[in-house]
Amino acid sequence: MISATPSLSLWALSSARPADFESLLEQYVTAYAFYGSGKVALRDGLETVSNAGQNVLLPAYLPDAVAEPIVELGLEPRFYAITETLGPDVDDLRDRIDSDTAAVVSVNYFGFPQSGLETISSITSEYGCYHVDDNAHSPLSMDGDTLLGTVGDIGITSLWKQLPVPNGALLYLNTDTLAESYTPSRYEGVRDRFDATDCRFLLKSIAFELFDRNARLRESIDTLVSGSGVGRVTASPRERYENGKSQLSNLTHRVFVDADPDSIRASRRSNFSAWQRVLETRSDVAPVFDTLPDGICPQVFPVRAGAPTRLLRQLDRVGVDGAHTWPRLSASVENDPTYETSRKLSETTVVLPVHQHIDPTAIEAVGDALSR
Ligand SMILES: Cc1ncc(COP(=O)(O)O)c(C=O)c1O
Repeated sequence: MISATPSLSLWALSSARPADFESLLEQYVTAYAFYGSGKVALRDGLETVSNAGQNVLLPAYLPDAVAEPIVELGLEPRFYAITETLGPDVDDLRDRIDSDTAAVVSVNYFGFPQSGLETISSITSEYGCYHVDDNAHSPLSMDGDTLLGTVGDIGITSLWKQLPVPNGALLYLNTDTLAESYTPSRYEGVRDRFDATDCRFLLKSIAFELFDRNARLRESIDTLVSGSGVGRVTASPRERYENGKSQLSNLTHRVFVDADPDSIRASRRSNFSAWQRVLETRSDVAPVFDTLPDGICPQVFPVRAGAPTRLLRQLDRVGVDGAHTWPRLSASVENDPTYETSRKLSETTVVLPVHQHIDPTAIEAVGDALSR
């Protein structure tokens, strides 16, 4: 069985590993701060630049709750259309940007630099507004000598999307001026002790390890313990945003300090390549990215599926846990024909797990099972 997320082993907390994650940040980021979620990091980042205008542009191909911090700050979220290759539709972006735009958000999808990232940077320079480099998907991805998330004035990244942790994100302040003017909210920082969320997450991780082979049981444990934390599925985007309002968990910080970026990146890359091999002969599935440039730490292996529901059923049958279409779009995007490409992408893009606790041979075995 291939699990959806990496699980936390107790030995992972005690083994001595170099604190490379922190060194990586110290090397590439001007200033950073810890948060419980990417959305609340985005909120504090945007508050720092909110005197620059009244609206914020963000790509239409985006999970619905990501616009919530903008609304909470009393700013207007404006979605710009994106192309089939996940780049900005430049004409549409230019139609929506104006002298009252505080910031434009770009998104490095699935751990890869967004196509057209330089174009977004040059448009924000032209209009004198801020550029937010949303790198929620992959804190360890490098584009040459650049850590993703550090291209704009402000960046965010979500730790919980790549590490086995209950919550966690970082805000990057990429200029000295912004670092000086930034005023953190009470959600910045690390909780000073283990709390109920950490304990629940640990119990869940232990239960997952014990019952790893039993998919049904695993499902029910997941339901049982998902009463809080980032995994909780609540009714509205606002509730999901509110749910992420917290400091970084103490457990997350311990795992973060102990993590080995090079080995996580290497494992995820091997698993990405394994999915490439396994799916290359299928005519109903096309990878979103044909190549895996050096330095990229993929969040998932995304594919465009001709028949997404059938593919998900097949994957479930052969033991792949957590494959799903991505993302759930904002209602205003869903209902506007201007965003047809984003809507189609969200219906047909299926993401497959590549996390560091999967062995590539398990993916090869899934390939064999799928072809039977
Ligand atoms: C592109 C993007 N930005 C921001 C976020 C928000 O991150 P978090 O869930 O850590 O609040 C997400 C979450 O899925 C995301 O996909």
